[in-house]
Amino acid sequence: MTTARTLPVWGSLTGFTEAHFVDRAPVGQQDVVVIGAGIAGLSTAVCLAREGRQVTVIDRQGLGEGETLRTTAHLASALDDRFYQLARWHGEVGARLAAASHVAAIDWIEDIATSALRDCGFQRVPGFLFPHDGSCKPLQQELRAARRAGLRVDYLEEGLPELPGFGPILRFEDQARVDIASYLLTLAETAQASGVRFHRARVGEVQGGASPALVLDTGERIAAAAVVVATNVPFHETVALHTKQAAYRTYVVAGRAPRGAVPDALMWDDGDPYHYVRLHDPGDNPDEVVVIVGGEDHKTGQEDDPTAYVRLQEWTRERFPAVTGFTHAWSGQIIEPADGLAFIGADAGGMDNVYVATGDSGNGITHGTIAGLLISDLIQGRENPWAELYDPRRKIVKSAGEWMRENANVVLQYRDWIAPGDQQRLDELALGDGAVIRRGFHRVAVYRDGSGALHAYSARCTHLGCAVRWSATEKSWDCPCHGSRFDAVSGKVLNGPAEAPLASFELEDAAIAS
Ligand code: FES
Repeated sequence: MTTARTLPVWGSLTGFTEAHFVDRAPVGQQDVVVIGAGIAGLSTAVCLAREGRQVTVIDRQGLGEGETLRTTAHLASALDDRFYQLARWHGEVGARLAAASHVAAIDWIEDIATSALRDCGFQRVPGFLFPHDGSCKPLQQELRAARRAGLRVDYLEEGLPELPGFGPILRFEDQARVDIASYLLTLAETAQASGVRFHRARVGEVQGGASPALVLDTGERIAAAAVVVATNVPFHETVALHTKQAAYRTYVVAGRAPRGAVPDALMWDDGDPYHYVRLHDPGDNPDEVVVIVGGEDHKTGQEDDPTAYVRLQEWTRERFPAVTGFTHAWSGQIIEPADGLAFIGADAGGMDNVYVATGDSGNGITHGTIAGLLISDLIQGRENPWAELYDPRRKIVKSAGEWMRENANVVLQYRDWIAPGDQQRLDELALGDGAVIRRGFHRVAVYRDGSGALHAYSARCTHLGCAVRWSATEKSWDCPCHGSRFDAVSGKVLNGPAEAPLASFELEDAAIAS
């Protein structure tokens, strides 16, 4: 099952999953079990396996079937939360460590990608930050902060001739891009060559302590010396981390342009929400490249806008008129931490020998790689200079305003339970559309598929009980509280933290006929 209805430009890696994932539980005591076969899980598995640890990767779906293949794979040490903001939240030393950790992650990715026989599309490129409104003041503030953080960055007052009308630009050196599907496949093969085994199974429970273990939804218990939860959002605890981060949807379009017409760089503006741009060279046409443009973010389950892709295409045509023939449109889930940096390390809920990686903050591939480098050190009992910075147990103090705003927003979402439904008459529901209706005390999420059949579920999110809302863009049920998403036809979980599917709801015959 895919995570959503739209398909990214990278394609899928189901071939590896079908060939190498075993559809049964691992047998006997395990050394390290990593839950999640995405960028964080695979990076962790490779790091540990290279040091001789026996690693088992478990995923409910397969390689890259979570969010990893939905990224645009910008490899940036020029973090989009701005270094003046990170310095405010984490101090000057913290901002320097953050920059250094992402530089190290890009270097590590380069090592793996460029030593592979497969072309992973790794390319060092500059990063261009430009103002969305022509204002140069925020750029100059970021210039000073990024330099203090140790990055090589210049301010180009006149902008660039190849980007007319963009205004002044900050140019960051040594950023990079990668073809994420080829890279993840290379990581998986590297892991496999080091003895890592892959299993397809659904983990229902994680137990920490001196003898940690997993319990699968089949009831089987698997003991392990250490457990790593690398599932984008942790599913094994309900509060410790979910109050410190928020889920956002981001939208992406891809189109073709003549080679050389758009600079080969990572580009992004400082709007809110902001836009981000990169090239991808699939190697199928010597005269063309693919231009990938993202943006139009909003909180998952809130302010869903079916015109997001249209507006992205318009924005692209305005700034890059050479881009024609849009071929792909897809969306992804960003987990935004309250203080701009991921939560990587010992379990926030206090489970011994359990480790987590979450809060990608829009820098998912580098944060996932940092997770591999950092968690492998922690499991091996080594000190790591980034441990405190990314510690999932850290207090959100200096960004407490942001944190409180996010949590007040979550509380507000529960008001849906006393609001009227989207509509009461099912005959108003068009083919391919969904709506929440009221039936007595119940709120029911109803989807009418292309054949006219109705699919009805309780609108109660199985995580902590918010009411789900319809996403016309992805044709899914999205929870506005912590970002869980559910398939409109099957009710199954597309994105956690929810683990259980939506509960089926029997519509009365009269309602079905209406
Ligand atoms: Fe937490 Fe829905 S994701 S209540």
